[in-house]
Amino acid sequence: MALPPNFLDELRARTPLPPLIGRKVKLTRNGRQWKGCCPFHNEKTPSFYVYDDHYHCFGCGAHGDAIGFTMQTEGLPFRDAVERLAGEAGLEVPQESPRQVAREARARDLHDVLQVAAEAMHRRLFSPEGRQALDYLKNRGLTDETIARFGLGWSGSGRGALAAELKPLGIEPRQLAEAGLVKQVEGREGTYNDFFYNRVIFPIRDRRGRIVSFGGRILGDGQPKYLNGPETDVFSKRRTLYGLDMAREAVFRGKADLIVAEGYMDVIALHQAGFEGAVAPLGTALTPEQMEEIWKVTPAPILCLDADAAGMRAAVRTAEMVLPLLGTERTLHFASVESGKDPDELIRSKGAAAFGEVLKAKKPFSIALYDLMALDRPLGSPEGRAAFRNDLAAAAGRIPDKALAAEYRRALLDRFFETTRPQRPQRQSGGNGFAPRGGNRPGFRPPPRLPPRVPPEASNARMEQARCLLAITMTHPWILNEVEEAFALLDLPQGHPSVLQAALLAWYAGLALTEASGDGRTSLDSGILMTHLQAIGLDEARNWVMRATGLPREASPDALPGETLDGWWHFFGFLRGEGALVEDLVAAGRDLVAANDAAAQARVIRLSQALSDLRRGETGLENGVEGAGPIG
Ligand code: UTP
Ligand code: MN
Repeated sequence: MALPPNFLDELRARTPLPPLIGRKVKLTRNGRQWKGCCPFHNEKTPSFYVYDDHYHCFGCGAHGDAIGFTMQTEGLPFRDAVERLAGEAGLEVPQESPRQVAREARARDLHDVLQVAAEAMHRRLFSPEGRQALDYLKNRGLTDETIARFGLGWSGSGRGALAAELKPLGIEPRQLAEAGLVKQVEGREGTYNDFFYNRVIFPIRDRRGRIVSFGGRILGDGQPKYLNGPETDVFSKRRTLYGLDMAREAVFRGKADLIVAEGYMDVIALHQAGFEGAVAPLGTALTPEQMEEIWKVTPAPILCLDADAAGMRAAVRTAEMVLPLLGTERTLHFASVESGKDPDELIRSKGAAAFGEVLKAKKPFSIALYDLMALDRPLGSPEGRAAFRNDLAAAAGRIPDKALAAEYRRALLDRFFETTRPQRPQRQSGGNGFAPRGGNRPGFRPPPRLPPRVPPEASNARMEQARCLLAITMTHPWILNEVEEAFALLDLPQGHPSVLQAALLAWYAGLALTEASGDGRTSLDSGILMTHLQAIGLDEARNWVMRATGLPREASPDALPGETLDGWWHFFGFLRGEGALVEDLVAAGRDLVAANDAAAQARVIRLSQALSDLRRGETGLENGVEGAGPIG
C-alpha cells in the first residue's frame, strides 16, 4: 500500500541525513555537504557524500534518501523503515482510508492513461498523417534523438480518433476526460471532443518523470499558438515546470546549471545544445510554487529573460514575487538574452557558445533587482531620489531573513549612493565614502585604489577627529536619524574608523527593517550598539574609539542633544574638508530655497557653522574631557 507522497516528503524533511548517517559512518564536513567512507563497499579514501536530502557514493554508486539508507543498513522493508524513521521524527504514519486508496488508484490510472496516450501520439508523428508535423519539428532543428527524448507527438486531426485508438486498450472516454485529453460536449452526456487536434504534442512530466498533461502547438501561425491541458487530479499548471524531471537529473549529477527559460521550445533547444538543466513554466509568469520546486533542486537557478520591454516587465513581476521567498540558500540569477530573441532562436542563429556567453554574464539577484528598480526612474530631483531610496529600502524589507534583508538594504543603498552621488573634484582624489569597503562580494565593482588624500604625517590629527566623531555617534546613536546621510558621505581613514563607519551604517540600516516604523527607531541605544559591535568582532575598534583620553565633552552620555549635534557637525566639517563642505553648503542652500523646510534650514546652519570652525582652524581636539567615554 502506498503512503501519501506529502507524508513521505514531510518525513524526509524532518529527517536530516547527516545525523542519521553519522551514527553509522564517521562523517567530516566538506563545504555544504559531508563526506566519509562508504558503508556499502570497502574503501580507505572517502568517496561517500551526504547531502541534506540524499547520499551518493562516487565509488560504488550507492544512492538514496533517509528511507533507503535505513532499509539498506537495517535490512528493513520499505514500510518498516518508514515506521522506524517516523517514530524518531515524531510523525504518525497515516492509515490509509478507503477514499485515499481509491484516489491513489485513480491517479495511478490517470498516469497510465496519459502514458498510453502519449505513446499513441508519438507513434502518430511517424505515420503519414504526422508527416507535416515531423517536418515542422525537423525544420526547427530538432534531431530524431531529441524528438524521441521528449516524446513529442502529433495529436491527429480530432473527431474522436484518439478515443477510438485507445478503446481496444480498455481506456474509456470518461478516463480520457479525467486525464484532460477530451472534453464533454456541453449538454450532451457521453459525447466528447478531443482537447488537442492538429497540434504538435509536448508531453508534460512531473519532477519524477510521470506524464501529467500535454502542451500542443499549432503548425506555423495561428491562435492560440500553444494550448496546455486543463487542470486535473494529477496536473496543476502553477506547480509544474516543463523539463524539470530531466533538469533535476542533470543538475544533480553536476552536469548543468538550472536555467529557467520561457517556453517549451526553449527547453528543448537548450537540452539539445547541451544545457540540460533547462526548465520553463507553462505559459504563465513564474509562480511561488514553481520557485519552491526549483529551489529543491538548486539554491541559485538562472532565470533567462528576454531583454525587450515585455521581458523586463516579466522580470519586475518575478522579482516582486521572489523577494518574500528569498533566503541564504534560496536565491536566483538573472541572465538576459539579446532583445527580440529567445534562447531557441539565439542557439539556432549563433550557436550554443553564444548562449554560454549569456549565462556567463548572469547577474546576482541583488544587482539585477537594483537595475530593474532603477529603470525609468527620475533621479534628477531630491524627491525622485528620496522616493527611489524609500522603494529600495522597502524592497529589502520584504525579505524575511533579517540578516539577508540588512545585507540587501546595504547593497542596494551602496549602489544608490555610488550612482547618484554627484562627482565632486574632492572625491576624485579621495576614497569612496559609502562604497562597500573591503567587500569582495560578487558583482560589486571594487572601489578604485587611490592614493590616500591625507599625507601620513597629517593623518594623526585626522584619525583623532574621526575618533571624536565616532565617539559622539556611538554614545548618542539617535543622532544617526539626523546625520546618516552626511555620515555616509564621509571618507574616514582606513582601519578602525572606516570599519566602524560601515558597521554603524549597516546596524542603522538593519534597525529600520526590524522596527515597524522606519523612523521611530527605539533600539538606537548606545548599550545595544556597543553589544552589537562586540558581537560582530569589533570590540578592539570600539575600545580604540572609547578610550577615555582626548574625547570631546559631546561624547559624554550627559551631553544635551543640541550640544551633541553641534559637536558632531563640528567634527564632520574637519573630516569632510573645506572644498566638499562648501559644495555641501551650496547644495543645502539650494534645497532650502526649493523646500524651505526646517530640516533644510538646520542643515544650512550646521554646515556653515562647521565651515567657519574649520576656517578658524579649530581642530576641536584641544578641549578633551577625561573619562567621557562609557564602554557598554
Ligand atoms: P512564446 O510565444 O514565447 O513561444 O511562448 P515560444 O516558446 O517561443 O514558441 P515557438 O518558438 O514560437 O514555438 C512561451 C510559452 O508561453 C506559452 C507556452 O508555454 C510557450 O512555450 N504559450 C504561448 C501559451 O501557453 N499559449 C500561447 O498561445 C502562447
Ligand atoms: Mn520561440
